[in-house]
Amino acid sequence: MSQARFYTLDDFEVAARAVLPAEVVDYFAGGSGSERALAANRSALDAVSVYPRMLAGAAADSATTMLASLAAMPVAIAPMAYQRLAHPDGELAMARAARTAGVPMMVSTLSSYPIEQIADTEADLWFQLYWLRDQDRLEQLIGRAEKAGCSAIAVTIDLPIMGRRLRDVRNEFTLPAQVIAANLVDESDSAADPGSTSMAHVQRAGASAVAAHTSERFGPTLSWAELEWLRARTSLPLVIKGILDPRDAIRAVEVGADAVVVSNHGGRQFDGAPASISALGAVVSAVGASCQVLFDSGIRSGTDVLRALALGASGVLVGRPMLWALAVDGADGVEQALSMLATEVAEALTLAGCLDVASSRDLRTRIEGSLR
Ligand code: FNR
Repeated sequence: MSQARFYTLDDFEVAARAVLPAEVVDYFAGGSGSERALAANRSALDAVSVYPRMLAGAAADSATTMLASLAAMPVAIAPMAYQRLAHPDGELAMARAARTAGVPMMVSTLSSYPIEQIADTEADLWFQLYWLRDQDRLEQLIGRAEKAGCSAIAVTIDLPIMGRRLRDVRNEFTLPAQVIAANLVDESDSAADPGSTSMAHVQRAGASAVAAHTSERFGPTLSWAELEWLRARTSLPLVIKGILDPRDAIRAVEVGADAVVVSNHGGRQFDGAPASISALGAVVSAVGASCQVLFDSGIRSGTDVLRALALGASGVLVGRPMLWALAVDGADGVEQALSMLATEVAEALTLAGCLDVASSRDLRTRIEGSLR
């Protein structure tokens, strides 16, 4: 680890910006459109106050269960594509750190190492599915995730098309040849053209190559009927990620979801969407009794985790801070960031008077002047 001192998760971002190419920083940090939803995620989290309880005891226990996973704290690593952009060890390093910290890691369909190799780390992995146009390949991928020992399947439903990430468009962002969608490599690709699953071949002026590749591979017509098919296809716990409207959460429960993730994709999809935290309460009211409600978009501290728990979440996913920590120092960097977050979560629980994660859901909250 460099000489830099790390006191908050944001410190990893500062350090990562100094070591990563500018266009990779933009790909990680950016949102869609005017980045209004991205900014709203933070300002809305900061608008949530939590009323602490007094004289409730100390020694908070942060451990919890999310789906079938026992986790050291109510945190999982969000699925993020192409982690070799941050560090040569990419998802392998991320998974090693997740295992050490005792938290689940969601592996993206677009991971830059194959799922089998990531599973060799023996981390608790949830496989995140993007709906591929090619049904055979989709089924193969589900089978591979099951065989590799993943403990849940999460399908992301907020990407019918990719949001226009203007930073990537302006940069004409393309992946370096060694960073590939490793789970989607064709047999025929390998020997003849090892770079052919990278985006270089679809790069064109004025477009982000990642966006072009995404529309080439992913089916925009995913429907609830297909999620019913998926529910029948796998016996693993099913997570549906990318829900903001409680009516969609109810549909998700109807198709058999074991958990939903309230998320606006870190402000990377619909720029007109509400801040993710603003959508959490209504989703919890609608389906909290029927399935677990997880939350992401903007979590940067233990206080943020507690805010989401107090609004009814069973746990949170953390995205970008994990990529910054990976860029700073590979598995050691992520381990340090997760350890910092664990300390902050325990401290927030203790200061709010919660002996355990479950009791945090009884806390009262105040949001921008309204009492809940
Ligand atoms: C993502 N996200 C994402 N989500 C998903 O379901 N599959 C994916 O492959 C990716 N890829 C991805 C790449 C990068 C660089 C980022 C920043 C994000 C979204 C991610 O899972 C999560 O919803 C947000 O990142 C959460 O917001 P924060 O914590 O980054 O603010």
